[in-house]
Amino acid sequence: MDQQFDLVVIGAGPGGYVAAIRAAQLKLKVACVESEARLGGTCLRVGCIPSKALLEASHQYHAAKHDLGAFGIEVKGVELNLAGMLKKKTDTVEQLTGGVAHLFKKNGVTRVLGHGKIAGPGKVVVTSGDGKTEELTTKNILIATGSSVAKLAGVELDGDRIGTSTEALSYPEVPKHMVVIGAGVIGLELGSVWQRLGAKVTVVEYFDRILPGMDTELGTLAKRILEKQGLSFKLGARVKAARRSGDGCVVEIEGQEPIQCDRVLLATGRVPNTDGLGLAEVGVAQGKRGDVIVDDHFRTNVPGIYAIGDVIRGAMLAHKAEEEGIACVELIATGYGHVDYNSIPSVVYTHPEIASVGRSEEQLKEAGIAYKKGSFPFSANGRAKAIGNTEGRVKILADAKTDRILGAHIIGHAAGDLIAEVAVAMAFGASAEDLARASHAHPSLAETVKEAALAAGDGAIHI
Ligand code: NAI
Repeated sequence: MDQQFDLVVIGAGPGGYVAAIRAAQLKLKVACVESEARLGGTCLRVGCIPSKALLEASHQYHAAKHDLGAFGIEVKGVELNLAGMLKKKTDTVEQLTGGVAHLFKKNGVTRVLGHGKIAGPGKVVVTSGDGKTEELTTKNILIATGSSVAKLAGVELDGDRIGTSTEALSYPEVPKHMVVIGAGVIGLELGSVWQRLGAKVTVVEYFDRILPGMDTELGTLAKRILEKQGLSFKLGARVKAARRSGDGCVVEIEGQEPIQCDRVLLATGRVPNTDGLGLAEVGVAQGKRGDVIVDDHFRTNVPGIYAIGDVIRGAMLAHKAEEEGIACVELIATGYGHVDYNSIPSVVYTHPEIASVGRSEEQLKEAGIAYKKGSFPFSANGRAKAIGNTEGRVKILADAKTDRILGAHIIGHAAGDLIAEVAVAMAFGASAEDLARASHAHPSLAETVKEAALAAGDGAIHI
């Protein structure tokens, strides 16, 4: 193999592999170093994709058991085949990770299997599983090593009963009682999966609300909807410890009775992956969380070394990492590249989905920005009624003077897709009136967005 490259990307997650492909499109000679046999990183192997496969499968199972009667469909003898469900998830992961390998070939990206370590500017040493090393020389290095689960003092992870999202994607049987530590994105998504499959699920959260950081009004509504589905929440409760006890586990909470259960999912955040990368030796500056410090062009303090995604500041989201990867390699190849951080959506794939873009009401108040809001419920939308998904609402926040859209928050069926419309509108600097005046197909769920935009002005039509 010719070992001279224009760019060596370390990590083949959504940030790294997308950056590698974009760099190849821009005619750079690119290698991507990844220690896992399958490409795609946490997102494809043990994150976004397998969790969405299980969310869909568990939703279908639950709907077949409980909801189809409302459509005049009588289904008898619905049974769970957990092994079959897990196999479908694994097949999906295999197809998508294989797809990335195919894209690398198609674009001429050199894939290097092994652990990458920066040995100096322009030098990456790759150690494979059998201990062999090879040195790659390159003009530029891009760190895209992602993140891993943050440990919590006192919680004794055993890779089985007390585990992380990785274990919770493959429990061999439905837990009787699952305790989730953390009412964030992972806790709510994977808690929902096992609750739908029959587990009793208790979510313990340190703050007095779920999804801290999200718009409070929608967070409150989300809690009510999830409680109705059967999730139970212990808020304002700090987990002190979790350990094995006989065949099960015990979770200790400050000032409260301990909880006995048979599975514990730790989901209290993630930390940047920087161990063993050689950063200290090469002098790459890191922040308090261990994150790699970069400037607006994703440059570290060492010339020729860049970083993107979960390993740097900002939200830990696959699509944020992708945008940064593209902007970073475009900056390297052309001198131009940009990420619009104001219009990056975030989605929680519960049912209904919870999606946000831009600023929350609390953030606008804190910044002293005068805003108006328009809100519209799914229960007043014809399509939502027809498909039996009337829970939730759309809220659009716009500047009080200019009408420019500042944020949108949606709970409802397909909210994760509906939010894209507002994200695009925001990227173009649209006003609420622009959204309201754009024609939306009838009947469609997207009309809820149009109506919320109308409500931010003279008023919605259908309520
Ligand atoms: P998170 O930051 O979303 O939520 C963690 C929660 O744990 C917080 O609510 C926090 O207050 C709580 N917590 C912390 N210490 C606690 C304690 N001692 N006792 C009780 N509660 C405690 O983190 P999560 O869910 O682990 O997700 C990690 C990252 O992965 C996030 O950045 C998330 O955005 C990303 N992710 C995104 C997904 C998506 O976009 N759909 C899906 C899954 C993960």
